[in-house]
Amino acid sequence: MNYRTLGRTGLRVSLLSQGTGGPSQFGQRRGADQAEQDRLIRRCLDLGIDLFDTHESYGDSEAILGRALRGVPRGEYALVTKWAYPRDGDPSGDPKDLARSVERSLRRLNTDHIEVMMFHGLLAEHHDMVVERYMPVLERLREQGKVGYRGFSTRYIVDPHQSGALTGLTRAPDLWDVIMLKFGILNQWAAREILPLALRHGVGVLNMAAVRIRLPKPDLLAETIAEWKSRGLLTRDSIPDANPLGWLVRGDVESVIGAAYKFAADHPAISSVITGTSSIEHMESNVRAMERPYLRQADRVRLERIFSHIAEYA
Ligand SMILES: NC(=O)c1ccc[n+]([C@@H]2O[C@H](COP(=O)([O-])OP(=O)(O)OC[C@H]3O[C@@H](n4cnc5c(N)ncnc54)[C@H](OP(=O)(O)O)[C@@H]3O)[C@@H](O)[C@H]2O)c1
Repeated sequence: MNYRTLGRTGLRVSLLSQGTGGPSQFGQRRGADQAEQDRLIRRCLDLGIDLFDTHESYGDSEAILGRALRGVPRGEYALVTKWAYPRDGDPSGDPKDLARSVERSLRRLNTDHIEVMMFHGLLAEHHDMVVERYMPVLERLREQGKVGYRGFSTRYIVDPHQSGALTGLTRAPDLWDVIMLKFGILNQWAAREILPLALRHGVGVLNMAAVRIRLPKPDLLAETIAEWKSRGLLTRDSIPDANPLGWLVRGDVESVIGAAYKFAADHPAISSVITGTSSIEHMESNVRAMERPYLRQADRVRLERIFSHIAEYA
């Protein structure tokens, strides 16, 4: 496993981390039992993964993770969890809700501290309200040692001006220690402004959902490419219609998904790529992809030429 520093937090984190949300939601969506979830977490730890991402609302993920990590020395892993501030940005929300959520997360995660506490899915228009209304509570939780670092995750929107990331990094870069966003083969727009800003300000970046939703599904990927061609977003001859990314698979690139994780890690602003798999076999192959976390230079340049101008939900 490769390790990187999570921005100014100084935490050393595994380049691949394990998420407990997304389509798999820690296997909850397909009825995985606790024994299987325990095995997955143990395998993650064996493979060198030491960062786990969760959320108060990923089903029972926090509690499952807390149980699976029982008995593992607390210094051997770091936890990220999140709180969903009022979705409509209601400026009269009760700041104590954040403290109550952190207390519940601590109980479920079976710990006395959370390394990174995030506001979930921050929108640009809510940034200042969140800072003004809730940051004092987060600061108190930090003083009490219950929370280490401040962060937020973003939503799947393709206009950087609506994303909390650009706003947070321009208005209050010293306030945010870690952000979570999506950067992948089909979603490169963060590389234009956001990733360079994060790097400049020492803000750690966790890369979420870098592979889903199109890349694990060959038919959906081919349909998407056909649609983008028909809309003129891609030229007809820029990429094959059948198995459009198959040309990436050679040498140590085992699969299109392997290529996607490598691409997702290959930016100096990215500290860790969160994989959302609930399969040990997939986890092992994702870890292998991280052994050499970059594609051939020519392939990477070709991917940038093909997709970097595209801002779509993919
Ligand atoms: N706004 C937010 O705060 C936010 C939003 C999204 C995600 N997140 C966090 O980021 C984490 C990662 O996002 P994600 O779950 O969307 O992750 P992802 O790793 O990009 O995508 C997960 C999907 O890819 C499949 N997959 C992964 N590795 C595979 C492989 N080797 N072969 C075949 N299929 C594979 C998984 O299916 P299998 O289970 O079958 O492997 C699953 O359907 C989440 O779990 C969550 O913790 C946060």
